[in-house]
Amino acid sequence: MNFAKELICWYLENKRDLPWRATKDPYAIWLSEIILQQTRVEQGKPYYFKFLETYPDVVSLANASEEEVLKLWQGLGYYSRARNLLFTARHIAFDLGGKFPATHKELLKLKGVGDYTASAIASVCFNEAEAAVDGNVFRVLSRIFGIETPTNSTTGIKQFRQLAQELIDKKDPANFNQALIEFGSELCKPRNPLCNSCPFASECIAFNQNRINELPVKLKKLKVRKRHFNYLVLISEEGETILNQRKGKGIWQGLYEFPLVETLSEADAENLVQEENVPEYLSAPQKLALYNEKPIVHKLTHQHIYTKFWICKVESLPGQGVSFEEANKFPVPVLIGNFIDTFDL
Ligand code: ADE
Repeated sequence: MNFAKELICWYLENKRDLPWRATKDPYAIWLSEIILQQTRVEQGKPYYFKFLETYPDVVSLANASEEEVLKLWQGLGYYSRARNLLFTARHIAFDLGGKFPATHKELLKLKGVGDYTASAIASVCFNEAEAAVDGNVFRVLSRIFGIETPTNSTTGIKQFRQLAQELIDKKDPANFNQALIEFGSELCKPRNPLCNSCPFASECIAFNQNRINELPVKLKKLKVRKRHFNYLVLISEEGETILNQRKGKGIWQGLYEFPLVETLSEADAENLVQEENVPEYLSAPQKLALYNEKPIVHKLTHQHIYTKFWICKVESLPGQGVSFEEANKFPVPVLIGNFIDTFDL
Protein backbone atom coordinates (compact mmCIF):
# COMPACT_ATOMS: atom_id res chain seq x y z
CA MET A 1 0.00 0.00 0.00
CA ASN A 2 1.13 3.56 -0.55
CA PHE A 3 0.17 4.91 2.82
CA ALA A 4 0.66 8.60 2.03
CA LYS A 5 -1.31 8.53 -1.24
CA GLU A 6 -4.18 6.60 0.30
CA LEU A 7 -4.27 8.92 3.30
CA ILE A 8 -4.23 12.12 1.24
CA CYS A 9 -6.95 10.69 -0.99
CA TRP A 10 -9.12 10.06 2.07
CA TYR A 11 -8.37 13.57 3.32
CA LEU A 12 -9.29 15.34 0.10
CA GLU A 13 -12.67 13.61 0.11
CA ASN A 14 -13.44 13.94 3.79
CA LYS A 15 -11.71 17.01 5.21
CA ARG A 16 -13.61 19.57 7.21
CA ASP A 17 -13.76 23.07 5.92
CA LEU A 18 -11.73 24.81 8.63
CA PRO A 19 -10.80 28.50 8.46
CA TRP A 20 -7.02 28.00 8.75
CA ARG A 21 -7.11 25.61 5.82
CA ALA A 22 -7.83 28.53 3.50
CA THR A 23 -4.49 30.24 4.13
CA LYS A 24 -0.76 29.68 3.96
CA ASP A 25 0.09 32.80 5.92
CA PRO A 26 2.57 31.57 8.56
CA TYR A 27 1.24 34.08 11.10
CA ALA A 28 -2.30 32.71 10.79
CA ILE A 29 -1.13 29.08 10.78
CA TRP A 30 1.05 29.68 13.83
CA LEU A 31 -1.86 31.35 15.62
CA SER A 32 -4.21 28.47 14.77
CA GLU A 33 -1.74 25.84 15.94
CA ILE A 34 -1.05 27.57 19.25
CA ILE A 35 -4.79 27.96 19.85
CA LEU A 36 -5.43 24.32 18.93
CA GLN A 37 -2.88 22.97 21.41
CA GLN A 38 -5.04 21.50 24.20
CA THR A 39 -8.18 22.99 22.66
CA ARG A 40 -10.91 21.39 20.54
CA VAL A 41 -11.44 22.76 17.04
CA GLU A 42 -14.96 24.02 17.74
CA GLN A 43 -13.81 25.82 20.88
CA GLY A 44 -10.75 27.24 19.12
CA LYS A 45 -12.48 28.67 16.03
CA PRO A 46 -14.00 31.81 17.62
CA TYR A 47 -10.64 32.64 19.22
CA TYR A 48 -8.88 32.26 15.86
CA PHE A 49 -11.33 34.73 14.27
CA LYS A 50 -11.15 37.13 17.23
CA PHE A 51 -7.34 37.19 17.19
CA LEU A 52 -7.06 37.66 13.43
CA GLU A 53 -9.64 40.41 13.50
CA THR A 54 -7.96 42.25 16.39
CA TYR A 55 -4.38 41.55 15.27
CA PRO A 56 -4.36 40.85 11.53
CA ASP A 57 -0.58 40.47 11.38
CA VAL A 58 2.40 39.76 13.58
CA VAL A 59 3.30 43.45 13.95
CA SER A 60 -0.13 44.40 15.28
CA LEU A 61 0.03 41.53 17.77
CA ALA A 62 3.54 42.60 18.78
CA ASN A 63 2.22 46.06 19.63
CA ALA A 64 -0.50 44.75 21.95
CA SER A 65 -0.15 44.76 25.72
CA GLU A 66 0.02 41.49 27.65
CA GLU A 67 -3.24 42.37 29.37
CA GLU A 68 -5.08 42.83 26.08
CA VAL A 69 -3.80 39.51 24.80
CA LEU A 70 -4.64 37.67 28.02
CA LYS A 71 -8.11 39.19 27.95
CA LEU A 72 -8.72 37.99 24.40
CA TRP A 73 -7.34 34.57 25.36
CA GLN A 74 -9.60 34.35 28.41
CA GLY A 75 -11.35 30.98 28.59
CA LEU A 76 -8.82 29.02 26.54
CA GLY A 77 -6.69 28.08 29.55
CA TYR A 78 -2.98 27.26 29.64
CA TYR A 79 -2.23 30.97 29.63
CA SER A 80 1.50 30.52 29.09
CA ARG A 81 0.52 29.87 25.47
CA ALA A 82 -0.81 33.44 25.24
CA ARG A 83 2.24 34.95 26.91
CA ASN A 84 4.59 33.01 24.61
CA LEU A 85 2.49 34.06 21.63
CA LEU A 86 3.05 37.71 22.47
CA PHE A 87 6.73 37.20 23.31
CA THR A 88 7.31 35.50 19.97
CA ALA A 89 5.29 38.07 18.01
CA ARG A 90 7.51 40.80 19.49
CA HIS A 91 10.63 38.82 18.68
CA ILE A 92 9.54 38.37 15.05
CA ALA A 93 8.35 41.97 14.68
CA PHE A 94 11.23 43.74 16.41
CA ASP A 95 14.24 41.40 16.15
CA LEU A 96 13.54 39.60 12.86
CA GLY A 97 12.23 42.63 10.97
CA GLY A 98 8.69 41.25 10.82
CA LYS A 99 9.75 38.31 8.68
CA PHE A 100 8.41 34.98 9.84
CA PRO A 101 11.09 32.24 10.07
CA ALA A 102 10.63 29.95 7.09
CA THR A 103 12.34 26.69 8.02
CA HIS A 104 11.63 23.99 10.58
CA LYS A 105 15.04 24.63 12.15
CA GLU A 106 14.46 28.37 12.55
CA LEU A 107 10.85 27.96 13.66
CA LEU A 108 11.99 25.61 16.45
CA LYS A 109 13.94 28.48 18.01
CA LEU A 110 10.76 30.43 18.70
CA LYS A 111 9.42 30.41 22.23
CA GLY A 112 6.28 28.28 22.53
CA VAL A 113 6.99 26.49 19.25
CA GLY A 114 7.86 22.82 19.64
CA ASP A 115 8.57 20.15 17.07
CA TYR A 116 4.90 19.62 16.23
CA THR A 117 4.11 23.30 15.64
CA ALA A 118 7.35 23.95 13.75
CA SER A 119 6.59 21.00 11.46
CA ALA A 120 3.00 22.11 10.93
CA ILE A 121 4.04 25.64 9.93
CA ALA A 122 7.03 24.50 7.85
CA SER A 123 4.97 21.97 5.89
CA VAL A 124 1.79 24.00 5.40
CA CYS A 125 3.42 27.36 4.64
CA PHE A 126 6.80 26.43 3.19
CA ASN A 127 6.28 22.92 1.80
CA GLU A 128 9.04 21.45 3.95
CA ALA A 129 8.73 17.70 4.51
CA GLU A 130 8.76 17.51 8.31
CA ALA A 131 6.24 15.23 10.00
CA ALA A 132 3.92 16.96 12.48
CA VAL A 133 3.22 14.41 15.17
CA ASP A 134 0.56 14.99 17.82
CA GLY A 135 -1.73 12.75 19.89
CA ASN A 136 -3.92 12.05 16.87
CA VAL A 137 -0.94 10.85 14.89
CA PHE A 138 0.33 8.60 17.71
CA ARG A 139 -3.06 6.90 17.83
CA VAL A 140 -3.34 6.32 14.08
CA LEU A 141 0.18 4.95 13.69
CA SER A 142 0.09 2.81 16.81
CA ARG A 143 -3.15 1.15 15.65
CA ILE A 144 -2.39 0.66 11.96
CA PHE A 145 1.19 -0.52 12.56
CA GLY A 146 0.50 -2.29 15.88
CA ILE A 147 3.09 -0.30 17.85
CA GLU A 148 2.94 -0.87 21.59
CA THR A 149 5.58 1.64 22.73
CA PRO A 150 3.89 4.10 25.14
CA THR A 151 3.05 7.29 23.29
CA ASN A 152 3.98 9.44 26.26
CA SER A 153 7.48 7.98 26.65
CA THR A 154 10.62 9.49 25.14
CA THR A 155 11.28 6.36 23.07
CA GLY A 156 7.68 6.32 21.89
CA ILE A 157 7.72 9.95 20.79
CA LYS A 158 10.95 9.33 18.88
CA GLN A 159 9.70 6.13 17.27
CA PHE A 160 6.38 7.59 16.09
CA ARG A 161 8.11 10.72 14.79
CA GLN A 162 10.57 8.60 12.84
CA LEU A 163 7.84 6.43 11.34
CA ALA A 164 5.79 9.48 10.32
CA GLN A 165 8.92 10.96 8.75
CA GLU A 166 9.39 7.78 6.70
CA LEU A 167 5.78 7.83 5.59
CA ILE A 168 5.46 11.53 4.74
CA ASP A 169 4.70 12.51 1.15
CA LYS A 170 7.82 14.49 0.21
CA LYS A 171 5.97 16.28 -2.58
CA ASP A 172 2.89 17.17 -0.56
CA PRO A 173 3.87 17.36 3.11
CA ALA A 174 1.19 19.98 3.86
CA ASN A 175 -1.70 17.72 2.94
CA PHE A 176 0.00 14.65 4.42
CA ASN A 177 0.40 16.25 7.85
CA GLN A 178 -3.08 17.70 7.92
CA ALA A 179 -4.51 14.44 6.62
CA LEU A 180 -2.93 12.38 9.39
CA ILE A 181 -4.24 14.74 12.07
CA GLU A 182 -7.68 14.88 10.48
CA PHE A 183 -7.77 11.10 10.15
CA GLY A 184 -7.01 10.70 13.85
CA SER A 185 -9.49 13.30 14.87
CA GLU A 186 -12.43 12.28 12.65
CA LEU A 187 -12.09 8.58 11.80
CA CYS A 188 -9.49 6.85 13.99
CA LYS A 189 -11.02 8.42 17.10
CA PRO A 190 -9.99 7.48 20.63
CA ARG A 191 -13.32 5.75 21.27
CA ASN A 192 -15.60 4.14 18.68
CA PRO A 193 -13.35 4.68 15.65
CA LEU A 194 -15.15 4.31 12.31
CA CYS A 195 -13.31 1.15 11.23
CA ASN A 196 -16.06 0.24 8.77
CA SER A 197 -15.25 3.30 6.65
CA CYS A 198 -11.48 3.07 7.10
CA PRO A 199 -9.37 2.74 3.96
CA PHE A 200 -6.69 0.92 6.01
CA ALA A 201 -9.00 -1.64 7.65
CA SER A 202 -7.55 -4.59 5.74
CA GLU A 203 -4.00 -3.77 6.91
CA CYS A 204 -4.67 -2.25 10.33
CA ILE A 205 -3.11 -4.46 13.00
CA ALA A 206 -5.29 -3.20 15.84
CA PHE A 207 -8.47 -3.80 13.83
CA ASN A 208 -7.50 -7.22 12.55
CA GLN A 209 -6.32 -8.42 15.96
CA ASN A 210 -9.30 -6.88 17.73
CA ARG A 211 -7.05 -4.59 19.80
CA ILE A 212 -8.56 -1.20 18.97
CA ASN A 213 -9.16 -0.47 22.64
CA GLU A 214 -5.63 -1.53 23.67
CA LEU A 215 -3.78 0.77 21.30
CA PRO A 216 -2.24 3.26 21.69
CA VAL A 217 -0.55 2.40 25.00
CA LYS A 218 -0.07 5.24 27.46
CA LEU A 219 1.98 5.26 30.65
CA LYS A 220 -0.13 5.84 33.74
CA LYS A 221 -0.77 9.49 34.47
CA LEU A 222 0.68 11.31 37.44
CA LYS A 223 -1.57 11.52 40.42
CA VAL A 224 -3.84 14.56 40.28
CA ARG A 225 -3.23 17.07 43.05
CA LYS A 226 -6.29 18.44 44.87
CA ARG A 227 -6.02 22.10 45.87
CA HIS A 228 -8.39 24.26 47.87
CA PHE A 229 -8.67 27.92 46.94
CA ASN A 230 -10.55 30.45 49.04
CA TYR A 231 -11.10 33.81 47.45
CA LEU A 232 -11.77 36.76 49.73
CA VAL A 233 -14.13 39.00 47.80
CA LEU A 234 -13.76 42.28 49.64
CA ILE A 235 -16.61 44.72 49.01
CA SER A 236 -16.30 48.26 50.30
CA GLU A 237 -19.15 50.66 50.93
CA GLU A 238 -18.31 52.31 47.59
CA GLY A 239 -18.75 48.97 45.78
CA GLU A 240 -15.05 48.50 45.24
CA THR A 241 -13.03 45.33 45.53
CA ILE A 242 -9.41 44.21 45.50
CA LEU A 243 -7.80 42.25 42.70
CA ASN A 244 -4.22 40.99 42.79
CA GLN A 245 -2.13 39.92 39.84
CA ARG A 246 -0.79 36.36 40.09
CA LYS A 247 2.98 36.24 40.06
CA GLY A 248 5.42 33.38 39.87
CA LYS A 249 5.51 30.36 37.64
CA GLY A 250 2.30 28.59 38.66
CA ILE A 251 -1.11 28.44 36.99
CA TRP A 252 -2.83 31.58 35.70
CA GLN A 253 0.42 33.58 35.76
CA GLY A 254 -0.32 37.24 35.03
CA LEU A 255 -4.08 36.91 35.50
CA TYR A 256 -5.96 38.78 38.21
CA GLU A 257 -7.79 37.29 41.16
CA PHE A 258 -9.31 38.21 44.51
CA PRO A 259 -7.00 37.86 47.51
CA LEU A 260 -6.37 34.14 47.76
CA VAL A 261 -6.04 31.92 50.79
CA GLU A 262 -5.05 28.39 49.85
CA THR A 263 -5.81 25.73 52.45
CA LEU A 264 -4.73 22.10 52.72
CA SER A 265 -8.31 20.86 52.92
CA GLU A 266 -11.77 22.32 52.41
CA ALA A 267 -12.20 25.22 54.81
CA ASP A 268 -15.18 26.56 56.74
CA ALA A 269 -15.32 30.09 58.15
CA GLU A 270 -14.02 29.00 61.57
CA ASN A 271 -10.85 27.41 60.29
CA LEU A 272 -10.35 29.87 57.45
CA VAL A 273 -10.01 32.86 59.80
CA GLN A 274 -7.21 31.08 61.59
CA GLU A 275 -5.11 30.89 58.45
CA GLU A 276 -1.96 32.96 58.59
CA ASN A 277 -2.64 35.08 55.53
CA VAL A 278 -6.18 36.09 56.44
CA PRO A 279 -5.78 39.70 57.56
CA GLU A 280 -6.49 40.78 61.10
CA TYR A 281 -9.59 42.83 60.22
CA LEU A 282 -11.28 39.66 58.90
CA SER A 283 -10.40 37.53 61.89
CA ALA A 284 -13.97 36.82 63.04
CA PRO A 285 -15.84 34.04 61.20
CA GLN A 286 -19.03 36.14 60.90
CA LYS A 287 -17.17 38.61 58.69
CA LEU A 288 -16.97 35.98 55.97
CA ALA A 289 -20.15 35.01 54.12
CA LEU A 290 -19.76 31.91 52.00
CA TYR A 291 -21.08 32.50 48.48
CA ASN A 292 -21.04 28.90 47.19
CA GLU A 293 -21.76 26.05 49.60
CA LYS A 294 -20.36 23.51 47.13
CA PRO A 295 -16.84 24.28 45.94
CA ILE A 296 -16.54 25.02 42.22
CA VAL A 297 -14.14 22.48 40.74
CA HIS A 298 -11.77 23.56 38.00
CA LYS A 299 -9.92 20.64 36.42
CA LEU A 300 -6.45 21.13 34.98
CA THR A 301 -4.20 18.35 33.73
CA HIS A 302 -2.32 17.73 36.96
CA GLN A 303 -4.47 19.47 39.51
CA HIS A 304 -8.10 19.93 40.47
CA ILE A 305 -8.89 23.23 42.07
CA TYR A 306 -11.75 23.41 44.56
CA THR A 307 -12.82 27.00 44.95
CA LYS A 308 -14.93 28.86 47.46
CA PHE A 309 -15.78 32.55 47.28
CA TRP A 310 -16.13 34.36 50.59
CA ILE A 311 -17.93 37.71 50.56
CA CYS A 312 -16.36 40.15 53.02
CA LYS A 313 -18.16 43.48 53.43
CA VAL A 314 -15.75 46.09 54.77
CA GLU A 315 -15.93 49.80 55.44
CA SER A 316 -12.83 50.57 53.51
CA LEU A 317 -10.30 48.57 51.55
CA PRO A 318 -6.76 47.94 52.76
CA GLY A 319 -5.28 48.94 49.38
CA GLN A 320 -6.02 50.28 45.92
CA GLY A 321 -9.53 49.17 44.96
CA VAL A 322 -11.27 48.67 41.64
CA SER A 323 -14.96 49.11 41.05
CA PHE A 324 -16.64 45.69 41.18
CA GLU A 325 -18.50 46.60 37.98
CA GLU A 326 -15.15 47.05 36.23
CA ALA A 327 -13.54 43.91 37.65
CA ASN A 328 -14.33 41.82 34.60
CA LYS A 329 -12.32 44.15 32.38
CA PHE A 330 -9.17 42.61 33.87
CA PRO A 331 -7.90 39.31 32.51
CA VAL A 332 -9.15 36.82 35.08
CA PRO A 333 -9.44 33.03 35.19
CA VAL A 334 -12.81 31.92 33.79
CA LEU A 335 -13.96 30.69 37.17
CA ILE A 336 -13.53 34.20 38.57
CA GLY A 337 -15.07 35.79 35.47
CA ASN A 338 -18.17 33.64 35.96
CA PHE A 339 -18.37 34.61 39.58
CA ILE A 340 -18.14 38.33 38.77
CA ASP A 341 -20.88 37.92 36.16
CA THR A 342 -23.30 36.16 38.50
CA PHE A 343 -22.63 37.94 41.79
CA ASP A 344 -25.04 40.81 42.60
CA LEU A 345 -23.54 43.48 44.78
N1 ADE B 1 -5.42 20.10 15.72
C1 ADE B 1 -4.22 20.67 15.77
N2 ADE B 1 -3.94 21.29 14.63
C2 ADE B 1 -5.00 21.12 13.82
C3 ADE B 1 -5.33 21.54 12.53
N3 ADE B 1 -4.49 22.27 11.82
N4 ADE B 1 -6.52 21.18 12.02
C4 ADE B 1 -7.37 20.46 12.76
N5 ADE B 1 -7.13 20.03 14.00
C5 ADE B 1 -5.96 20.37 14.52
